Amino acid sequence: MVFVFLGAPGSGKGTQSKLLAKKFHLIHLSTGDILREQKNSELGKVAHQYIVKGELVPDDIMIDLVTEKITAVKKDKIILDGFPRTKVQAESFHTLLQQKNIDLKKVIYFSINKESLVKRLLGRIVDQNTGEIYHKEHNPPPSLNSKDLFCRSDDEPQKINVRLSVYEKETMPTIDYYREKKILLEIDANKSIDEVYQDLVKNLFPS
Ligand code: AP5
Repeated sequence: MVFVFLGAPGSGKGTQSKLLAKKFHLIHLSTGDILREQKNSELGKVAHQYIVKGELVPDDIMIDLVTEKITAVKKDKIILDGFPRTKVQAESFHTLLQQKNIDLKKVIYFSINKESLVKRLLGRIVDQNTGEIYHKEHNPPPSLNSKDLFCRSDDEPQKINVRLSVYEKETMPTIDYYREKKILLEIDANKSIDEVYQDLVKNLFPS
C-alpha cells in the first residue's frame, strides 16, 4: 500500500511524512533525501547538477531509482514523498505498481499559497545527523548553535523561484492527472504543522 505526497517545495511533505511514518510504522521514501544521501555516487553527482539549479532530475534516472527502492522495500506500507512529479513519472509508476501488485491508496496534494512557501523555505534548517526538519521561527530546533544544522543549497531565493516555476509547469499537471483518476485528497497545508497532521490522520488512518 502506497501513499503519494505531492505539493510545492516547502509545502510540508517531508515534515508530515516523518511524523506519520513514526506514528504508524510506515516506510518514508523521499526522492529528494535519497538523491542528497547519494551525493558521492555516480548517480548522486549527476543528480546534484540538477538539484543545485532547482531543476528536476531526468525522468529515466528517477524512474530507475524508485523502481529499485520499491523493489527493495519489504514492508508494504510506504509514503512516497516527492515522486512522481511529472506525468511521465506518473505513467511509469502506474505500470510499476501494476507489475508489483501494489495498491496506490491515495495521492495527497499539499495545497498552499505561494507567500507561505517562500517564508518556509528561507527559514528551513535541517539536522544532518538526524534528518529532522526545522524552521527558524515555526519549528525551532532545541539549539540554534548546533554544528549539525545546515540550510539546503537549493533554499536560496533565486533557486526557490526556479523550483516554483518547475513545480507549476511539471508537477501541477501530475496533480491534475491524479485528480482525474479520483484518487487525489487535497489538504490545506497553510495550517500549522499540528493541524495538518491531524487532518492527515483523520483522512488516512480513521479509527
Ligand atoms: P525535494 O527534497 O523533494 O524538495 P521539494 O519537493 O522541493 O520539497 P521540499 O523538501 O523543499 O519541501 P517539503 O514539502 O518537504 O517541506 P518541508 O516539510 O521540508 O527535492 C529536491 C530536489 O531533488 C528537486 O528540486 C529535484 O532536483 C530533485 N528531485 C526530487 N524528487 C524528484 C523527482 N521525482 N523528479 C525529479 N527530480 C526530483 O517544510 C519546509 C519548511 O517549512 C521547514 O522549515 C518546516 O519546518 C516548515 N513547515 C512545514 N510544515 C509547516 C507548517 N504546517 N507550518 C509552518 N511551517 C511548516
